[in-house]
Formats: sequence, C-alpha cells, structure tokens
Amino acid sequence: MNTQGLSDTAALLLADDKGLLAMDESNATCNKMFAKLGIPQTIESRRAYRELLVTTPCLGDAISGVILYDETIRQTNSDGTPMAEAIIARGLVLGIKVDTGAMNLAGHPGEKVTEGLDGLRSRLADYADMGARFAKWRAVFAIGAGLPSSACIEANAHALARYAALCQEAGMVPVVEPEVLMQGNHSIERSFEITDHVLRTVFDHLHAQGVSFEGMILKPSMVLPGSSALSQEPLEKVADATVRCLLRSVPAAVPGIAFLSGGQTGELASSRLNEMNVRFRSRLPWQLTFSFARAIQNPALAIWQGQDSHIKAAQQALYRRAICNQAARRGEYDANMERNSAEAQLSLA
Ligand code: 13P
Repeated sequence: MNTQGLSDTAALLLADDKGLLAMDESNATCNKMFAKLGIPQTIESRRAYRELLVTTPCLGDAISGVILYDETIRQTNSDGTPMAEAIIARGLVLGIKVDTGAMNLAGHPGEKVTEGLDGLRSRLADYADMGARFAKWRAVFAIGAGLPSSACIEANAHALARYAALCQEAGMVPVVEPEVLMQGNHSIERSFEITDHVLRTVFDHLHAQGVSFEGMILKPSMVLPGSSALSQEPLEKVADATVRCLLRSVPAAVPGIAFLSGGQTGELASSRLNEMNVRFRSRLPWQLTFSFARAIQNPALAIWQGQDSHIKAAQQALYRRAICNQAARRGEYDANMERNSAEAQLSLA
C-alpha cells in the first residue's frame, strides 16, 4: 500500500478549506428529484445536469473533488470531452461511488445492508484507469424502537472496512460513509448514543482490516434530533454533541471528517458546520469539512428545471452554496451570504 500517496490525495481533498461535491445520486434517486420538478427522467437529462454542475465557472475555488455515479463517469460533455477528463482538467479530484446500494437486511425488517463487494477489486482498477483517486461507500442506519440492531451495525461496518481496504490497495482514498438517518422523532441524545456506537464499531473493523487511518476520510452524519422530533436543538448544542461524539470515536490519525447533509436545508447544514468550526477548529485533531449533495445542489437544480436558458443562473446558485460551505469550514459563514454574497457574484462576473 502506498500510504504516502493516499495521505497526499487526502491532503489535496482537504486543502484550502475546500470541500467535496457529492453528485453521485443513483439513477433512481436522481429521477425522483427530477420528477418533483417536472424534468424528464432520461439518461440525457442526467448527463446534461451533471455537465451543468461540473462546468460551473470557478467551482474549484471552493470544491476540491467531486463524487460521480458510474453512469456519469462514462459520459461525455456536449463538446465530446469525456466527463472524467474534463473534471480532472479543471483541477478537481475525481471520485466515484462504488457501493451498489443498500438492500434489505435479511431477518431484520426496516434495516439495510450496503452491497457491492463482489468484483470490487476489478471495478476499482477500472475507475483508477479512468482517473479516479477516491471512492465512496454509504451505509445507512435507521433509528427506531430497537434499531439499529447489532446485526445491522456489524454487517455494515464489516463491509465498509473491506471496501476501504480494497480502495487503499488500489491507491484510492476511501470516503467511509456511515450515515445515521435523521428520519424519526428521536432525541439528540439518542442520536449521540447510536452515532457513537456505529463509529466505534466502524473503526474497530477498519483497524481489523488494516486500513490506514491517515489515508482515509470519514463521512458521517451530524448528531441531530430526529427530523420529526418536537424539540429541534440550537446550533451550539448540535455542534457540541457532534464534536464530542467524534472526539470519542474517531482516531486523531484520520486527516478529515467530511459531513453529509442528510436532508437538512443548505442554510442549516452550513450554519451547523460553521458553528463547529467557530467553537472547535483550532483544537481538533482532524479537519471538519463537507461532502454535501443536497445542501450544495438543491437551489441549482430548482433553478435549472431542465432548461438550457437557466444554466447560468443555476451555476451561480451552485457556486454560491459551495462558497458558503467553504466559509463554514473557516467559521466565517453568515446566512446573509446566501442572498448577497458579493464574493460569489464577483468571482462569476
Ligand atoms: P446529502 O448531502 O444530500 O445527504 O448527500 C450526501 C451523500 O453523498 C449521500 O451519500
């Protein structure tokens, strides 16, 4: 294993307070988003949308790397350039989602196990040939009565560790994503307890499989109350609970923690990341960054609506969300930036 090469890639992904743009929705998820907005659910619409995202002017100001879905990495931009090539030429690090989805876990109603280990070594070699330098695998954990079960936590942690070891063998940085889902009416304390248990188990398995912590990035959920819980907590409480939970379970050797947004609004996701960085940035062993999909893309998608004439405005919205999240990494985010970021306007002028 080339541990120095892996650390170098991880450092590149974390440099200059930039973050990751997750744009690796499966076709089914992408089609669902399109259907809500009346956008045709076709391979060409998905291609055009992804081209819009990756050709956003100045995207690299705030985004270090992008995570693609298998369909996209094989597509070309409208000028005929392979999408992967165009991304790399813009100085963005190319990433790829390599799990094949979360399936029902046998014998455990309401729980999922993520699949995709079969044939993964050769798929990783193909993606590396296409220029990918990092890869993502997402496991999900629902909170409910008696959930998640230890069967679900163990099965997913084991798969995450096997995937991460294979990535590193292929010279790619694993972005290890154990997502504790927001859906439900649980308290922030329960979310803390489950996230703590999940992360400890994941790191036990990563260690057992010989994964180099220096050459990986963790992509967790924030510690939040359930989205239908009566009490939604203030920023300080979410920041405290999330950082306290991570400090208990994530080894200091891990260089970066890149949160998913998980269905939070863009503004809330940025405010919470900002709060963590304001309060703790100078005394944490790892960098706290973002690997958002919805919390970067949503305004752009809503503006685009499948119309060529909306592309420029959609790209401006994407750029603004990216810049806002970079500010949150620095602890310099202010919700007013969402509306009138002079910096965002200027850079695109
Ligand atoms: P969200 O930020 O929309 O939760 O997506 C992140 C992601 O990559 C999910 O796998």
